[in-house]
Amino acid sequence: MGLLVRNGRIVTATEDRLADIHAEGETITRIEASIDPRELPSDTEVVDADGMYVFPGFIDPHVHVHLPFMGTNAIDDHDSASRAALVGGTTTILEMICPGPEEEPLEAFNTWKGLADAGCCCDYSFHQSVVRFDDLAMGQLRELVAEHGVQSFKVFLAYKGALDIGDTELFQLMLLARELGVVLTAHCENAEAIDQMQRLLVASGRTGPEFHEPSRPRDVEADGVNHLCLFAQLTGASVYIVHTSCGAALERALAARGRGVDVTVESVIPHLVLDRSFAERPDFEGARFVMSPPLRDSIEHDTLWGAIRDREIATIGTDHAPFDFATQKQMGRDDFTRIPNGIPSIQERVDLVHTFGVCEQRIDLQTMVDACSTQAAKRFNLYPRKGDIVVGSDADLVVYDPAFRGTFTAAESLSRIDYCGYEGMPRKGRSHVVTLRGRVVARDGAYVGEAGSGNYLHRKTAPEWTPSGSG
Ligand code: URP
Ligand code: ZN
Ligand code: ZN
Repeated sequence: MGLLVRNGRIVTATEDRLADIHAEGETITRIEASIDPRELPSDTEVVDADGMYVFPGFIDPHVHVHLPFMGTNAIDDHDSASRAALVGGTTTILEMICPGPEEEPLEAFNTWKGLADAGCCCDYSFHQSVVRFDDLAMGQLRELVAEHGVQSFKVFLAYKGALDIGDTELFQLMLLARELGVVLTAHCENAEAIDQMQRLLVASGRTGPEFHEPSRPRDVEADGVNHLCLFAQLTGASVYIVHTSCGAALERALAARGRGVDVTVESVIPHLVLDRSFAERPDFEGARFVMSPPLRDSIEHDTLWGAIRDREIATIGTDHAPFDFATQKQMGRDDFTRIPNGIPSIQERVDLVHTFGVCEQRIDLQTMVDACSTQAAKRFNLYPRKGDIVVGSDADLVVYDPAFRGTFTAAESLSRIDYCGYEGMPRKGRSHVVTLRGRVVARDGAYVGEAGSGNYLHRKTAPEWTPSGSG
């Protein structure tokens, strides 16, 4: 069965034009000013996109689904998270594999991939977190890159005693990443400094969620960025800084870029829309908004949006990490250091960027597409199969209704989470129809695809990759 999307305004990172799109099977085969449906096989699905934007499927470069973390596990599974992603216009996710220090990397990869293979409705790939550094682990990392399509590693300069790594390991891993041509993604803070700050605050009775931000202030994050970038400078590794929350951290990354370091910067939607006052809500309500790095002062929003507009920040992800308020967040009721860190956003990201970025005239539509799709595809070797609308690309399309008006609410969420971090905020725009490799999978907030229809994206280094349909 084919697909025809008619009369839409195609908006990519580089183009904005009225045209029709035809897909045969999973792949875009024609993009023309007008394609007559009568020329096409009678079973072609025709989507009328009159008055709508047609975007390439959005890519979330930073997602947690299976996440054993802080004594619990994130509440979504791949079925619920990917349905939520798809109705929100995200057709590809890059999930963090986060094993414990005892686990072998290959074993962890097989666990995460097995779960996603069984349940993921959208397409997916992984960043491999590295927390174990013996010869066996290093050998397995090489194998994951050579044979299993892994093209990015992840390190945490945070979460002391759980996920953090030492400088010797960081340096060695960067050398390996450089040798393998792999991007090193990094959570940049300072695990030791945070641990000490947390001890001081808790010992003095400051145990509520409002003390999460003071335990890891902006300069701690900036220090982590600086540290990572110094090591990248010394080793020649390519680095990608996840969830950058503030101007101080961004400045360090841009300074390193000025010195020739290959550094890409990601922001995530909670840091662009929410501020620290949410985490300061009384009666433990603020726990819903505890994530790391923490929500900052609202003045940072302008800095981050401005950097997205200027393409200094390349990508907007979510850092979707859902922990129920009624149960899991309560683990930290008497001690904020025990509140599972994370805010859910996988379904809301695209509409939030449209509402608070495009409609507020902070960024234009093409920057939205670039930041929410194309740059992630390019940085993580999925382009042009993903991240663009060109002949030969996967037919992942988002027919987007910019005139839709509503509010964000947990009642419409397909995630398992029991709250929405953006509850009651105005929502301008909605994905009307979403296609994944030529099939309609979501309509107006409802998932209409099959269960488990996502594919694993086995990534290769850019020069070796050939787009499907190009021979
Ligand atoms: O608070 C967060 N970000 N939770 C998920 C784990 C991480 O650091 O990405
Ligand atoms: Zn992180
Ligand atoms: Zn994360």
